Amino acid sequence: MEVIIQPDLRSGAALGACIMERLIRTKPNAVLGLATGSTPVALYCELIRMHREGGLDFSQVTTFNLDEYVGLAAKHPASYHHFMNENLFSHVNVRRDRIHIPDGTAKDIPAFCQEYEAAISRAGGMDLQLLGIGHDGHIGFNEPSSSLASRTRIKTLTENTVAANQRFFSSPQEVPQHVITMGVGTIMEARTCMLLAFGEGKAEAVAAMVEGPITAMCPASVLQLHPQAVLIIDEAAAGLLKRADYYRRVYANKPSFQQFSSFTLG
Ligand code: GLP
Repeated sequence: MEVIIQPDLRSGAALGACIMERLIRTKPNAVLGLATGSTPVALYCELIRMHREGGLDFSQVTTFNLDEYVGLAAKHPASYHHFMNENLFSHVNVRRDRIHIPDGTAKDIPAFCQEYEAAISRAGGMDLQLLGIGHDGHIGFNEPSSSLASRTRIKTLTENTVAANQRFFSSPQEVPQHVITMGVGTIMEARTCMLLAFGEGKAEAVAAMVEGPITAMCPASVLQLHPQAVLIIDEAAAGLLKRADYYRRVYANKPSFQQFSSFTLG
């Protein structure tokens, strides 16, 4: 795993956006796995700026979002459909028929999940999966104890995740208990995984993911097995990493052709 420590959220988000920009410019029909939550918002702002000011073209891009709440219609203000429209899709020229987000209102959820996996395969798999991390180490909505081989499916949220996500709803009772999420196995098939984490509140999860054992108790730790995983964090989120100085040294001494990240794209 490549660990890139940036001074703050702003520089971390800018770096993440540069990596995505480079992918889209190199491969205009890139398949992107996208994430929600507060973490990627600044990165999406940068992508929007690159689209407006630098002509970054999303017209051939295909997207697959990680997850959605069960029972929330796309129009619900706390749905991830709504989030993605507000924070990215309505500001760039991505084609509506190339956007995929799990349907929280699907009547037959297992059939929907199977079809979601099939659609990812038909698109050729994700070139890059953007990820945030929950305080307990979850990715997507794969809570601790999720199978590390899991595929897209319905999950029950932990009480802590429900509590953490209450801020997006007008009352605690409104927060759905169930979600549809890509599985850990689905995420691991992306050719590149790029996880962002900012702030002291994420330091424990980051340390467990990078330097702890690979365990379903911290689903993000499985990224240690991914051949092209890049982690972009700020100083606060790096606060509990034992080998932080080494990660800084690796990044500072990279040959220029490897700048931004060592992985090869596409
Ligand atoms: C939710 C999302 C995750 C996200 C996590 C952290 O659980 N399903 O994809 O990484 O929240 O959210 P935030 O970025 O707001 O801390």
